[in-house]
Amino acid sequence: MKLKLKDIFEERDKLRYVYFGGKGGVGKTVVAAAVAVWLAQQGRRTLLASTNPVHSLSNLFKQDVFGKPTNVGVDNLEVLEIDTRETIERSKQDIRKRIGWFLKFADIPLKSDAFVETATMNPAFEESAMFENMINLMIDDNYDMYVFDTAPTANARRLLGMSKVYTLWVDKMMKSRDEARSMRLSLSFRRKKVEAEEDPLMDYLVTFRDRIEHMRELLTDDTKTAFFFVTLLESLPIAVIKRFIGWFHDFGIPIGGVIVNQQIQADQVTDDTDQFVKNRLAMQRSYLEEVEKSFEYFCGSIPLFEQEVHGLDMVKRVTGALFAKA
Ligand SMILES: Nc1ncnc2c1ncn2[C@@H]1O[C@H](COP(=O)(O)OP(=O)(O)O)[C@@H](O)[C@H]1O
Ligand SMILES: [Mg+2]
Repeated sequence: MKLKLKDIFEERDKLRYVYFGGKGGVGKTVVAAAVAVWLAQQGRRTLLASTNPVHSLSNLFKQDVFGKPTNVGVDNLEVLEIDTRETIERSKQDIRKRIGWFLKFADIPLKSDAFVETATMNPAFEESAMFENMINLMIDDNYDMYVFDTAPTANARRLLGMSKVYTLWVDKMMKSRDEARSMRLSLSFRRKKVEAEEDPLMDYLVTFRDRIEHMRELLTDDTKTAFFFVTLLESLPIAVIKRFIGWFHDFGIPIGGVIVNQQIQADQVTDDTDQFVKNRLAMQRSYLEEVEKSFEYFCGSIPLFEQEVHGLDMVKRVTGALFAKA
């Protein structure tokens, strides 16, 4: 272990946006919560947010945190499950309005429904709505620290790859839009008037592209942003984060560190311990060697507790394990 989690936060003192990735079920929500609690305890106003639709944060804190930043009993900390349905609906209506306007502007005698359908059936649409939510939170700038318990791995990657797709898409839209406009101009005797007309659809697309671009800049700024990966000492979760880290290198997204979760504590295993547990300990030992060898970013380990992590007291035990003084 080169740097511990605590050193990373102390060394990179401008960090503001922290994300957690990894295979489903490895403990992303739990670790994100534990880190958020620690940051809040350091006196930084912290938002812990999730776009996860299964209400994992409400469950973890035994409190409804859906749709509204909520205090969960820790000073400086607010917890929020982002309501993506609402954003998706809002974006759909927004797009409907703007497409309707565009069709009218271009004198295209078609209903907007088919176009709206196409725009919103775009596989990136839902992610873009989530993305939009995250951007809004970050642009609102109400907190010192943002801890995002990200959606499962594949979604997170798509989310990140999307900024490029969006720029391409918007540029393409702008090009067709310009072509339509020059055609209209050449057919029109009212040149001046047409030229002066406002274009809310284009404004929207450009604003959106700029926001995404802004987000991309934030995501790739290693002074402000760090992605952490959580893994168990098992084959598949390790393979998943290896792949994930590879992608992130490609995207130029800064990696904060790798955290091992649910490590069986060797000092709790004696000669009398059941063979079952001994086997698992041996298995974990060999995977721990692999983690140490493969990840220069390995920065912390959390014991496997005798019970699930449920409720603030258990979250605080995770915080204690992650930020313990050596
Ligand atoms: N160190 C740990 N000891 C015991 N149980 C844990 C530990 N870490 C996580 N858990 C449990 O594992 C499950 C999955 O954790 P969670 O944070 O929801 O994973 P993810 O967000 O990656 O899907 C939860 O039931 C949680 O209580
Ligand atoms: Mg989760």
